[in-house]
Amino acid sequence: MSKLLIHGTKKLKGEVQIHGAKNSTLPLMAASLLCAGECVLHNCPALSDVDTAIKILRHLGCKVERTAGDVVINPLTAKNYDIPDHLMREMRSSIIFLGAIVSRLDRAILSFPGGCELGPRPIDLHLSSLRKMGVDIREDHGCLDCVVPNGLKGAVINLSFPSVGATENIMITACLAKGKTVINNAAREPEISDLADFLNSCGAKIHGAGNSTICVEGVRRLTGCEHFVIPDRIAAATFMTAAAITGSTLTVSSVIPEHLAPVIPALEESGCQVDLYDSSIRISAPKHLSRIKSIRTMPYPGFPTDAQAPVMAMTTLAEGTSMFVENIFESRYKHVGELLRLGANIKVEGRVAVVEGVKRLSGATVEASDLRGGAALVVAGLAAQGTTEVYGLHHLDRGYESIEKNLALLGADIRRV
Ligand code: EPU
Repeated sequence: MSKLLIHGTKKLKGEVQIHGAKNSTLPLMAASLLCAGECVLHNCPALSDVDTAIKILRHLGCKVERTAGDVVINPLTAKNYDIPDHLMREMRSSIIFLGAIVSRLDRAILSFPGGCELGPRPIDLHLSSLRKMGVDIREDHGCLDCVVPNGLKGAVINLSFPSVGATENIMITACLAKGKTVINNAAREPEISDLADFLNSCGAKIHGAGNSTICVEGVRRLTGCEHFVIPDRIAAATFMTAAAITGSTLTVSSVIPEHLAPVIPALEESGCQVDLYDSSIRISAPKHLSRIKSIRTMPYPGFPTDAQAPVMAMTTLAEGTSMFVENIFESRYKHVGELLRLGANIKVEGRVAVVEGVKRLSGATVEASDLRGGAALVVAGLAAQGTTEVYGLHHLDRGYESIEKNLALLGADIRRV
């Protein structure tokens, strides 16, 4: 079983290039199914979730080629409308393919995503929205059997929560539906705008992405296009916390600084100096971090749930008490038990975690149980005295391209064995 071996307390320096966003790439790959021509996605990260999305597209019958950061998808040959259970289990966000498959093939059979490391993973908002748009969905024995008896039609959809995945599924389904779809209380994450930009380049008519109300005028046909995936704001935030906890000065480049606006105040509150440039951010950490009074995860433009764990790792060494309130997922504190092994002082009560900063962390053997929780363990390990061994790397590989190579290039003593 492979693990990361980290000899902590080394300073980082230099510049790290941030890869394309996982959470943009996956919906873009799903959306390419709608197109009547080849789609070329540039800046796709080399991640296992992207490999899974490629397997799904190939299973559906698409031709997919991948060279370095480019994924070229020819969806014209798609003919299968099911996603095998093992692929649904590999990546529970595979539900994002639902709208694209029914739109393209008038039928979809998927297994229900079920629960995951972050707690229950309901898809009620996806299903109720697609039903409103003319999709007949039967749920049977953990399986979703979806048909479109009378064609897709536009609808007014009021989301009770601005779900990222549901907003994406509705936008994708609405592109080729008859008439107009309005999504109220839509998610506003940058990945939503990236999806709208891609679909509009293919000929869709989507207005308002990035705002709470999105309008989609159905069109008859979408062409293929070439698209450059936006940078991964969560990978960028993770490297920034790594710089902060190690007292380093680091430049994260190939980013859209605006997308990190919800995270930057937390880093500044901890005493870091953050300088923004056109497509890079320079972070200079103080000798001793200060506590962050309170962090409440919220839909964008609030503080991202995906950055909660790495930022928490950083506050374990900050002076004073930091408080976290996780409002998005039910079970997103699995990293806490492992941070305790490294010597952190954290108490969790329901959705609240209270971190009392300690003077030092010390290396230990820890196991990642989810992607961002795994990143938090790496961040903490970089500052821990002695040796930290991190297991559960398949979680990290879902969302961080060669994290150990990138950190080693910056001066960290880290390797995969
Ligand atoms: N929810 C429902 N019903 C639904 C859909 C969502 O109750 O039909 C609930 C979820 O259970 C959760 C909350 O709403 O409690 C937020 O879920 P959302 O649908 O917004 O999240 P998602 O689309 O499943 C994406 C990212 C996540 C990220 C969240 C929130 C992708 C592939 N995944 O998930 O990324 O945490 O948005 O920003 O885009 C990660 O990268 O580590 C990750 C988990």
